[in-house]
Amino acid sequence: MKDEIQTPADRSANLKGMGCSRKRVEDVRFTQGKGNYVDDIKLDGMLVGDFVRSPYAHARVTAIETEAALKVPGVLAVLTAKDLEPLGLHWMPTLAGDKQMVLADGKVLFQGQEVAFVVATDRYAAADGVAAVEVEYEELPVVTDPFRALDPDAPVLREDLAGQTEGAHGPRRHHNHIFTWEVGDKEATEKVLDEADVVAEEMVYYHRTHPMPLETCGCVASMDKVTGKLTLWGTFQAPHAVRTVASLISGIAEHNIRVISPDIGGGFGNKVGVYPGYICSIVASIVTGKPVKWVESRMDNLMSTAFARDYWMNGRIAATKEGKITGLWCHTTADHGGFDACADPTKFPAGFMNICTGSYDIPVAYLAVDGVYTNKAPGGVAYRCSFRVTEAAYFIERMVEVLAIKLGMDAAELRRINFIREDQFPYQSALGWEYDSGNYHAAWDKALTAVGYDALRQEQAQRIADFKAGKTRKLLGIGLTHFTEIVGAGPVKNCDILGLGMFDSCEIRIHPTGSAIARLGTISQGQGHATTFAQIIASEIGIPADDITLEEGDTDTAPYGLGTYGSRSTPVAGAATAMAARKIRAKAQMIAAYLLEVHDGDVEFDVDRFVVKGAPERFKTMKEIAFASYNQAIPGLEPGLEAVSYYDPPNMTYPFGAYICVMEIDVDTGEHKVRKFYALDDCGTRINPMIIEGQVHGGATEGYAIAMGQEIVYDDMGNHKTATLMDFFVPTSWETPHYTTDHTVTPSPHHPIGAKGVGESPNVGSVPCFSNAVHDAFRPFGLVQSHMPHDQWRIWKIADDLGLHG
Ligand code: CDP
Repeated sequence: MKDEIQTPADRSANLKGMGCSRKRVEDVRFTQGKGNYVDDIKLDGMLVGDFVRSPYAHARVTAIETEAALKVPGVLAVLTAKDLEPLGLHWMPTLAGDKQMVLADGKVLFQGQEVAFVVATDRYAAADGVAAVEVEYEELPVVTDPFRALDPDAPVLREDLAGQTEGAHGPRRHHNHIFTWEVGDKEATEKVLDEADVVAEEMVYYHRTHPMPLETCGCVASMDKVTGKLTLWGTFQAPHAVRTVASLISGIAEHNIRVISPDIGGGFGNKVGVYPGYICSIVASIVTGKPVKWVESRMDNLMSTAFARDYWMNGRIAATKEGKITGLWCHTTADHGGFDACADPTKFPAGFMNICTGSYDIPVAYLAVDGVYTNKAPGGVAYRCSFRVTEAAYFIERMVEVLAIKLGMDAAELRRINFIREDQFPYQSALGWEYDSGNYHAAWDKALTAVGYDALRQEQAQRIADFKAGKTRKLLGIGLTHFTEIVGAGPVKNCDILGLGMFDSCEIRIHPTGSAIARLGTISQGQGHATTFAQIIASEIGIPADDITLEEGDTDTAPYGLGTYGSRSTPVAGAATAMAARKIRAKAQMIAAYLLEVHDGDVEFDVDRFVVKGAPERFKTMKEIAFASYNQAIPGLEPGLEAVSYYDPPNMTYPFGAYICVMEIDVDTGEHKVRKFYALDDCGTRINPMIIEGQVHGGATEGYAIAMGQEIVYDDMGNHKTATLMDFFVPTSWETPHYTTDHTVTPSPHHPIGAKGVGESPNVGSVPCFSNAVHDAFRPFGLVQSHMPHDQWRIWKIADDLGLHG
């Protein structure tokens, strides 16, 4: 075969492999309106389902009258809990070991809870049917405050759990208590705190928010009564897990269920859980014999399918007077709403909150988390973070700032003297993790130099002087953050979802002409997997990425995997991809040796071919090898060239980053302006720098929203006050700051290509960075801690409380 591209560098560039900013192949479809989302699916005779939802946060449901609704033209059925009960489907298991009502069974526990499911010929008839269902409620006292929920006289929310003193995660000590999770050495930590030179204590609240993907949750269920096969299209971040759970709940044999995640318009954790809409659509399709579609409205999405954060983290941090941190203590009260539907690995009821020692070498630590029921929506999903890592990062990055205030130290220097040193990796944290690799000092120094940290502090000092002299009304805040993420759940021995070990997979088939198809157990929701995973294969086996089709999301064709969330795709499925490619390369080596009539060990891989060692003019390209695998009988080898890998990672990966924000704050109006946002990320080996930059921009913008205005708010009666985009802040290009991105590269020692995840990092790192900038601006005037989100009113209020309005 003619070798048209001569130099190894040219041949390598032709592959568009790892390290190349290959353009996103998905965007050809997306930018031309050719995406195929759940709501684009139209099937013959398809019906539409919609929910009657509770206007009350806590009430007894005394009657549901469906007759009028059934008379609405186009309405075919109205399902209530009574209809689901004989099937055992009126309640469903949650990912957290609790159970949740599919439809209100005697009472409701949050505003917007699903009460009845109306099935009609189109969405308009369904909406009319919903309006015609009459429900009688008897209001009950409401609890929206997790601390009040634990008072002895607090109303009993979960009557179904009456008398149950054991929950899924150990003893329950109160009728609204879910679990207590403890990690670390309590006694040793308290001793250190008692004897420390300096102890800083603070309540750090990370408010309730919502992932709010542009596309809401939805599905189409289609039961074929002839073949007995159920096909379920849906916005699923973990399609295989959905298939298994659907089989276990419904009793339909798993081989008779096909789950397909088509294009997904953002997930951010919102599409991991199982929601009542999925169950009701399946039942409705079985009952009517027709396909049934359910797609949430924006309000439904913000009110009912999940929430994120809502952690009250009470912390104490001990240090010597020189600033060496000696211990960390944290007690968290976690508001889980009406049902515990957190999406966490089974053994981690508070996710990976125990990464809250952050980037610092802290000898002893103790963490306790109490989960509590309130009259709010269930969820507790990992909104672009690896199971509560963002809460942990916010907590430690605020505690370090609070300690710096107490010590009268520069917060950058305090961080520097407490970082885990490069020579301490792999590092065993006080709360049980083994950090794989890092060079925090190098990243920190690079970041401080890049922003001109010393000059910024001088400018800030001048600004304070000018402010005090009445020359300006604007303050300058310098927000610092050094975060450590933990991503890539996870070793099967530690991490499972509903008993399913958290491995992942990749299957690669090389076609005779040298192109390929790869299928993975993950599913992209916008991250660009079709672009980047092809790049891994390209580099590993020497086939151009442009010649590789990548498929995800169809359980009938893709190998089993646990899906995409928590930045696990690259650490787990990315590793599986490299391992499957290496199996192919090993077989290709044998084929090449046979074709070149030498021993296997006498050929070596060279970009896109195997060459005879010492005789580079004698080679076989991967294209030639692929063809030979289908066309020649090679002794001792099966025909074809394909491989599958199921990868169980030995450890998580620990990406990290140094973020710095410079913010101007108008004391009189509470307005802010982000003057600079510098984000240095280290995600180990970088597969596609352009995609990484995009991930950082997106994640940092979500972080900006969370820190500066985005919030799910309830009033005392449990009314949801932020269920539209008029009230729930989503930044447009107008508000979004400009970002400067940077990187260092510290490969993961245990990942086959040294890559760590990156998707979550900017959300995790940017929230404390923006928040610290606000705090830093007011630090000289006595501000120690103030709750997010720092919207205009709250910033104005800080200034007012500090007496800065005269
Ligand atoms: O699990 P998820 O895809 O959300 O997160 P991820 O594994 O951090 O990957 C997000 C995107 O960034 C994917 O397209 C990855 O292939 C890409 N990435 C990369 O190019 N290099 C890395 N070291 C990590 C991720």
